[in-house]
Amino acid sequence: AASTFKASDLTVEINQSPAVKPESADNLPFGAVFTDHMLEIDWTAENGWGTPEIKPFQNLSLHPAASCLHYAIELFEGMKAYKRHDGKVVMFRPDRNMARMHSSAVRSALPEFDQEEMQKCIQKLVDLERDWIPDSKVASLYIRPTMIGTEPTLGVSPPKFAKCFVILCPVGPYFATGGFNPVSLVADPSVVRAWDGGSGNFKMGANYAPTIHPHMEAMKKGHQQILWLYGDEHYITEVGTMNLLIYWTNENGEEELVTPPIEQGVILPGVTRDSLLTLAREWNEFKVTERAVTMKELVDALDQGRVKEVFGAGTACVVCPVNKVTYGDRVLEIPTMDNGAPLATRFLNTLNDIQYGNSSRDGWQVI
Ligand code: COI
Repeated sequence: AASTFKASDLTVEINQSPAVKPESADNLPFGAVFTDHMLEIDWTAENGWGTPEIKPFQNLSLHPAASCLHYAIELFEGMKAYKRHDGKVVMFRPDRNMARMHSSAVRSALPEFDQEEMQKCIQKLVDLERDWIPDSKVASLYIRPTMIGTEPTLGVSPPKFAKCFVILCPVGPYFATGGFNPVSLVADPSVVRAWDGGSGNFKMGANYAPTIHPHMEAMKKGHQQILWLYGDEHYITEVGTMNLLIYWTNENGEEELVTPPIEQGVILPGVTRDSLLTLAREWNEFKVTERAVTMKELVDALDQGRVKEVFGAGTACVVCPVNKVTYGDRVLEIPTMDNGAPLATRFLNTLNDIQYGNSSRDGWQVI
C-alpha cells in the first residue's frame, strides 16, 4: 500500500465554468465563498494513498454509512495564504498546520501522510487559485484541509476508506470596521469543551459540534463567546474557537503574558498562539509563561487592577480583544480596550507585516 501520495503525481482538471471572483475584500463573509477548484486524495487500507487530483469544486458523493457521518471520524485544519504587495502568494507557517493535521489523523484513526507532500499539493492548489485573492492589504485566502472516514459500514472501527480534500475561501478582515471589536464572554463551569485525556488538543470536528448549542444559549443571554473553563478550580482554557492570552502584572509584580499549556491535552496547539509566544519571547520585554490559570486568579488580578489585556488568538481573527466576562453573579470588566490594547495591536501589526511581506521571517512565509 502507498504510504504517501506525491505532489509530482498531481493531476489537474480545470473548471470550464469558473465563477466570478470577488473584486474586493468587502462583503466576504467568513467561509461562505469558495474558489473554482479543490484538491482530493482518496485512501484505502488495501492500496494506500491514490493520486492527488485538483478538480472543479464540487459536491462529494458519500455512502450513507460513511463513518464520518456516524462516528464523526473527521479532522480539519485552518490556515491562510496572503498575497504580498510584490504579487507573490505566501502561506503562513504551513508546516505547523501539516504537523497538527498529522497528529489529528493519528488520533482520529485516519491514515497518516507525508506532511511535505501534503503541503506541496496544497501549494499547487493555492497557486492555481491565486487570482481569487483580492488585491487588498486586508484580504487573504483561508485554506481548509479536511480528512474524513468513508468506511461504508456501521462497525465502530478504524476506517478502511478515507478521503482527504482541501477547499479554499477568499476572506476579508475578521473585523469589518478595520479596528478591533472586543467580545464579551460568559464563563460557565457547567459546560466543558475539553478535558484531561480528551481530544481537545486535536483539530477534529467532534470537538466543535457540542460547543454550538451552549454558544447559542450564551448568545441568547447577550454574550458573544464562551470562556471555556475546566475542572473544580475553574481553569481558564479557551475562548470560543480561539486560544486565550492574558497580559497582566502577576502576583509577584512582574509584567507577564500568560496562556494555558497544551501539554495538559485540553488546549488546541494554535499556530497563532505559538507565533505570539515566539514573538513575545524574542522581544524579551516581559515574562512569557505557559501555565494553568484559574478564574480566581483572574478575578483577584482584576480586583487589584493588575490586568492589562485579555485576548483570543486564532487563524481566522489573528487577535481578538476581550472586554467583559460574566462569571456567576459577577460581570467582570476587562480593561483591554480602555488600555488601548497596545500588546494585541503590536502582535496584530507584527504578524500582518510578516504575512503581507513588509517584513521577512524565515519559515513563516512559504511560497
Ligand atoms: C480560528 O481560526 O480561530 C478557528 O478556529 C476558526 C474555525 C474553527 C472557523
